[in-house]
Amino acid sequence: MAEARKFVFVSPDYGSSITENGCCGSGCCDFEAVVLSGNAKDITNAVKQRYGALAERAGKRGLEASENKSSDKFYSEEELSLISDEIAGASTGVGNPVSFADIKPGETVLDLGSGGGIDCFVAAEKTGSLGRVIGVDMTPRMVSSARENAKKLSASNITFKRGHMEQIPQDETSVDLVISNNAIALSEWKHVTLSEMYRVLKPGGRFVISERVVIEALPENIQDSTHEWVEGVAGAADKERFLTMIETAGFVGVEVLEERADTGGDEEWRSSLATLTILANKPAG
Ligand SMILES: C[S@@+](CC[C@H](N)C(=O)[O-])C[C@H]1O[C@@H](n2cnc3c(N)ncnc32)[C@H](O)[C@@H]1O
Repeated sequence: MAEARKFVFVSPDYGSSITENGCCGSGCCDFEAVVLSGNAKDITNAVKQRYGALAERAGKRGLEASENKSSDKFYSEEELSLISDEIAGASTGVGNPVSFADIKPGETVLDLGSGGGIDCFVAAEKTGSLGRVIGVDMTPRMVSSARENAKKLSASNITFKRGHMEQIPQDETSVDLVISNNAIALSEWKHVTLSEMYRVLKPGGRFVISERVVIEALPENIQDSTHEWVEGVAGAADKERFLTMIETAGFVGVEVLEERADTGGDEEWRSSLATLTILANKPAG
């Protein structure tokens, strides 16, 4: 049997103050300095390195038709007309959660693991200037690139914050909708992330996330691979366990809106994976 990963986790203190444009103030730094240690720190650094490097070459990747970009697979021409090649080049999602989210003008939307911001830009078109979109990502280079993109596109209703989805730099009951696209699979503490999503949502709020899940056990060498963790594979949760975890966090009306085969590559073991788009609601009160 594969040796269990030895992550060390200390419950975060949610009482941190939040700065609008920077990281989450003391909370974000506490998370990295106090909460992360051992393998967790190594994995977090590997994820940051992987997505930091991707942000560096996003402009070039955006122009290459041969790259396996999620922008080419999951987004309409109309949606793509809202973003630049650089934003498309940073896209590494497994679905299009915004297309299922029925966003209304004026809503506040939070995107966890926002990367280059593709879903933030598409969502911001729907919230309009009366609403706002907040993207949270822990990789500094991704956040700075997303901020530059927002500036270039004069997207004044989007804010990108650096922070961890396990300690979201956002006040409680402050958002109508949480979205996420291929990011929760990278978190070792999915139950903490889900309870954070519950905390920041307003009563009656909802989440719509696109996530890779495991249908049948992956080969042990894939489960144990840091490379495959960073690619969002080894950390993917078992489908049924993940749906139960969502209910355990307090969400109701949990619904799989879409399920499709994994499109990340052509290895045989990919048939053990699926990608889901899931809707769940925070009870109204
Ligand atoms: C696979 S990329 C997806 C990016 C984007 N959602 C998209 O669709 O293109 C995952 C992103 O999640 C971020 N991420 C991973 N773990 C995170 C965590 N624990 N907290 C915040 N961001 C995280 C990474 O830095 C990366 O930018």
